[in-house]
Amino acid sequence: MSKCFYITTAIDYVNGQPHLGHAYEKIIADVIARSRRSLGQAVFFLTGLDEHGQKVQQAAQAEKRNPQEYCDALAADWQAFAQKLALTNNDFVRTTQPRHKEFVQATLATLNDAGHFYKATYTGFYSAKEETFLTEKDRLPDGTFDASYGEVVELREDNYYFKLGAHQQWLIDTIEANPDFIAPSYRRNEVLGFLKNHTLEDLCISRPVARLNWGIPLPFDPEFVTYVWFDALVNYTSIAKAHQELGLWPADIHVIGKDIVKFHAVYWPIMLKAMGLPLPKQILVHGWWQKDGAKISKSTGNVVDPVAVINEWGLDAFRYYVLRELDIGPDGNWTDPGFRSRYQAELANGLGNLVNRSLSMLKRYRNGVVPAKSNDLAADAAKAADETRAWLRQSQLQAALQSIWGLVNRANKYVDETAPFKLAKDPAQAQRLDDVLYNLAESCRVLAVLLNPFLPGTSAKIYAQLGLTNAPDQLADATWGGLPAGHTIGEPAPLFPRKDV
Ligand code: MSP
Repeated sequence: MSKCFYITTAIDYVNGQPHLGHAYEKIIADVIARSRRSLGQAVFFLTGLDEHGQKVQQAAQAEKRNPQEYCDALAADWQAFAQKLALTNNDFVRTTQPRHKEFVQATLATLNDAGHFYKATYTGFYSAKEETFLTEKDRLPDGTFDASYGEVVELREDNYYFKLGAHQQWLIDTIEANPDFIAPSYRRNEVLGFLKNHTLEDLCISRPVARLNWGIPLPFDPEFVTYVWFDALVNYTSIAKAHQELGLWPADIHVIGKDIVKFHAVYWPIMLKAMGLPLPKQILVHGWWQKDGAKISKSTGNVVDPVAVINEWGLDAFRYYVLRELDIGPDGNWTDPGFRSRYQAELANGLGNLVNRSLSMLKRYRNGVVPAKSNDLAADAAKAADETRAWLRQSQLQAALQSIWGLVNRANKYVDETAPFKLAKDPAQAQRLDDVLYNLAESCRVLAVLLNPFLPGTSAKIYAQLGLTNAPDQLADATWGGLPAGHTIGEPAPLFPRKDV
């Protein structure tokens, strides 16, 4: 059997509630996971939470809670959120789990024994307020630091460093030799530009317990905990190890946002090289959402609450909008009018209307019994299916939806051209009406199969309304002619209720 297709998301900091950006990334990964399964591959989809480090410790402190209890409480919310999005993840990692912590410690011990780390004293300017060291670059033109850093003091601190610099040329060569390693290509060019124009500094992989204790202790020095990014990145391999029998590593795709490319495309490959492990096949980088042209921000109230949108419009409408509106790569802009307009035009009037009138007419004119096969739309359906399969193999989700809507629009136009309600009035046109009704019902069936990775609920409803009892979850079933003559369909019902807005 071929290797399991292993896809991951970034693991989210558990320092608040999930928002649109988190939802978007997880839906991208879910659609890729579902489409690979639909293409017949075995898939393992991992998502989860990044629970250590300063951000989480501070969030827990702000609520006067012990960090582990704080994480446990929020992790339940995030897992419920994953279900709300209908994610088909096969596991959910939390970096405070023993299976992960033990793997991180074993990795650190091995790398330390192999001489990848050294201890050094760093002297620098430290902002206690931001809990971060500042560099010369952070100075204002007058030599001071911005007031937002609070009091800045000179601090000496011992830490452990990972020798990254030694691998810089190797990384450049590797990225150049593997054009698909970082996608889209402009992200790859940015990474190459960075690597060719900067000397990589060694990576500080520890924090003194005195300054930050919410982390995984270094196995070789209890005065330190592991830097949160070293801990977090390792999740992709700790969980692969936890499912050793599946042979997950190397991962096929890491889905991440544009702000964390350096961690995934620079630090992580070098860490893996040091660990003696092969690199993931692809780092797929998505852009960031804004709302109404401005940064999403809790403090200004400029937010999209995915749960509220889902409760009002349905999960599939939410999944559809984020994937159709924004290609994987550029930044996007959520607007409520834009959302409503896609809902009305593409879901309610486009797909919903097609399915509803096709099945209602079959019910009304033929008692719901599927006529003999006819091929008017066979070529259109084959085109949509071929294109969709090809786009899905390249994780081009927006393009796949465009191909699918090619068939939605073609079939709706076919209703207008053939006017079955007129044919129904003329007994001499009975054969023609049979043909039209077959083409429409079968197009709906093909659409259910193609849509399954994107809109799983809608896809299942279409199959149920068609009276089909198998699942629409194999793209091979998108082949024209699957509806057998004589089969009786189920009850048509609107898929996307029209909303008065
Ligand atoms: N914990 C780290 C990731 C560790 S991965 C080994 C982290 N967490 S995060 O919660 O800040 O972000 C998680 C993901 O959400 C990132 O990929 C990030 O790019 C994405 N997004 C956060 N805000 C976003 C938007 N406004 N729009 C789209 N994605 C956004 O970074």
